[in-house]
Amino acid sequence: EPLTATGVIHGDQNGGTISRHLYGHFAEHLGRCIYDGLWVGTDSKVPNTGGVRNDVIAALKNLKIPNLRWPGGCFADDYHWRDGIGPVDQRPQTINIHWGQEVETNAFGTHEFLALCELLGAEPYLAGNVGSGTPEEMRDWIEYLTFDGDSELANLRRKNGHEKPWRIEFFGVGNENWGCGGAMRPEYYADLYRRYAEFCRDLSGNRLTRVACGPNGNDGNWTRTVMERIGGRMQALSLHQYTLAAPWNSKRPATGFDEAAWFAIVRDSLAMEKTLDDTEAIMDKFDPQKRIGLFVDEWGTWYEAEPGTPGYALFQQNTLRDAMVAGLSLNIFHDHCERVRMANIAQVVNVLQAMILTEGDKMLLTPTYHVFEMYKVHQDATRLPLELKSPEYRHGDQAIPAVSASASRDKAGKVHVSLVNVHPTAAVTVTCELAGVAAKGATGRVLTGDKLDAHNTFTDLNAVTPREFAGAKVGNGSLTVELPAKSVVVLELAE
Ligand code: AHR
Repeated sequence: EPLTATGVIHGDQNGGTISRHLYGHFAEHLGRCIYDGLWVGTDSKVPNTGGVRNDVIAALKNLKIPNLRWPGGCFADDYHWRDGIGPVDQRPQTINIHWGQEVETNAFGTHEFLALCELLGAEPYLAGNVGSGTPEEMRDWIEYLTFDGDSELANLRRKNGHEKPWRIEFFGVGNENWGCGGAMRPEYYADLYRRYAEFCRDLSGNRLTRVACGPNGNDGNWTRTVMERIGGRMQALSLHQYTLAAPWNSKRPATGFDEAAWFAIVRDSLAMEKTLDDTEAIMDKFDPQKRIGLFVDEWGTWYEAEPGTPGYALFQQNTLRDAMVAGLSLNIFHDHCERVRMANIAQVVNVLQAMILTEGDKMLLTPTYHVFEMYKVHQDATRLPLELKSPEYRHGDQAIPAVSASASRDKAGKVHVSLVNVHPTAAVTVTCELAGVAAKGATGRVLTGDKLDAHNTFTDLNAVTPREFAGAKVGNGSLTVELPAKSVVVLELAE
């Protein structure tokens, strides 16, 4: 007997715009994310464009990647942008103090990153250095990047090969300044933010969205303090929350787990909902008009590193369980789209819940990649409120909803519905009344796998890959979906 879920899709209501930036990414100088993952250099045998891997460019373009955050993460508050400009052979060797004390060649710097963004058609999101940098250094970076006139820094940019200024909208004033970005108290950070941000100017018509460092998960004290003390001097507040379901010093393996671990991770990822509710309630108090965006600019699963790889490189496999977390999280972000205007999964290649894993000249797409690809139809679409009564998925003495769903209407008028069934063994029949949606049929794709830890490898690239889905029907003003166990489905309703 399949379980049943019932609901209503309110096609006659406007539930806000699902910003494409909720589908953002993050690339840090960490492990093999930048070097090897994105950047191989122009001398590499791996096919590349100006040093960036062609296979990775094509895969990310297919996701319609809207933005890319760089250079960190923790790395950002120890990064000095001048180290990464000018002739590559004259750039200093520095050390990456946060991630294994590896020697950083600085071969990938500002120009290389912004060229990568241009290749991807993605907007850059830069993270500035508050922890170990100065307001002068931050101010100068912005002048170097965005000033169109005849100044020494703008001319240095020209000498280094970029005549026109770049357009930079997103600019983080520090990263995790409560931790690796300076171990600050919120009162101190709030004062520093005010000082640094004062020198982050809109030059030559460029307009910055200044992003203040927000809480570590559901830390209301941090949120309240910075909202009160910084207020309208920020245009967005960041928030970081990872899914581990374990203490930081004994993380879970990424593969080879049992149902208890499946349940624990899926359940932990749902904590995002409460964190957003609580954070938004505080923001609403200080900013009832919702001028300040909430950017969840680091999220995703965090497991023990793959055996045989250095712990600091945060290289982990990615399974069907991660696909569940991705689908659930994106559905949650949609529901919070009034305040949550950006989210960046950590990280794009070879680090944490990655889209892509590489090995030499080989590349694989993870189950998480496929969820982002299937869900891209929601980017910039109008959210249609969806009420759902889900059956429970019970494990031991705990229960979570088995099904999560989200719907939107895109600019061309097409309605898409994304559904996740986290129950590992039970299919669910979902029936949704279509209010104000004139649909005649539904087509779609499904992502599932044979095992809880089904995943792709370099010898089996398509173990988990989207397939045609024939389990959806429209009739009598409602949509019926036979949602397989442990699956993600995205549908397009045909008018
Ligand atoms: O994404 C890995 C690290 O997680 C980032 O550098 C840091 O911001 C966070 O703690």
